[in-house]
Amino acid sequence: MTAESTGLEGFKAFEAEGWSRRAGTYGDLLGTMTARVAEPLLDAAGVRRDMRILDVATGPGYVAERAATRGARAIGVDISDGMLELARSRQPQLEFRWADAEELPFEDASFDAVVGGFVLNHLPNPERAIAEAARVVASGGAVAYSVWDRPERNRINGVVADAIQDVGVERPPELAAGPDSYRFSDDSEFDALLSGAGLEQAQVETVDLTLDVADADSFWDGFMGSSVRMRGVIDAQPEEVRRRIREAVEERIDVHRGPHGLEVPAVVKLGSARAA
Ligand SMILES: C[S@@+](CC[C@H](N)C(=O)[O-])C[C@H]1O[C@@H](n2cnc3c(N)ncnc32)[C@H](O)[C@@H]1O
Repeated sequence: MTAESTGLEGFKAFEAEGWSRRAGTYGDLLGTMTARVAEPLLDAAGVRRDMRILDVATGPGYVAERAATRGARAIGVDISDGMLELARSRQPQLEFRWADAEELPFEDASFDAVVGGFVLNHLPNPERAIAEAARVVASGGAVAYSVWDRPERNRINGVVADAIQDVGVERPPELAAGPDSYRFSDDSEFDALLSGAGLEQAQVETVDLTLDVADADSFWDGFMGSSVRMRGVIDAQPEEVRRRIREAVEERIDVHRGPHGLEVPAVVKLGSARAA
């Protein structure tokens, strides 16, 4: 499927194509970290055996896979064909379908829990996505989503953002303008998003992780292989500027050097709530 054949436009088409390009390498760095948030997400949603679970923006299917390991009946959806292909090849026993998080093709109350890892910051209309999650979850069921914390605390994105700033690069105007990447890093915004959809008992927790990576080269290659938006900014620069950003990353990341390589703080916000 192409953006044209799906009818996707603007930022969503940019995302669908970008994530398809990154599918093969997403698991080299960012995917190793998001996969570690699958269990906390499922815990927050109380996922158990026989529950019907929807994994929104499933990517490689990490959350759906862990849900199935718990004995739940999981379906994953995504707008990136490359990611769907990867998810199906990793877990051929599970169902993965093309769907937009803001327009879920399911009946009301079809699931016992709806979970979404690292997708809210990729949506033009996150309110609509949470309203859709609240619609398709059954009464008493849970909704749980995760996002990265701000770059000051989540140093994976932070090191690269600082390096881009060090070099004085602006976002190129031709890149599709996207939503604020860190809006829901703010607990009160996340809480308001969930509560605003009529969900109850909203809570936001912080999950602290550490990315262990051998050296600056592995960090750079892994990051470039698993990012869409920030990589888009870097790719749009002339070669000389890209080289300076790469050098600035090397300098910035050195503060995270530990006895066995780099230990980069990676902080996640996890919001959950229940349908009345
Ligand atoms: C950062 S990845 C997260 C993947 C996976 N959930 C994880 O935790 O690793 C973001 C995913 O959101 C998907 N995505 C972006 N916009 C979407 C939308 N409107 N509807 C469904 N999926 C979307 C992308 O294709 C990509 O697979």
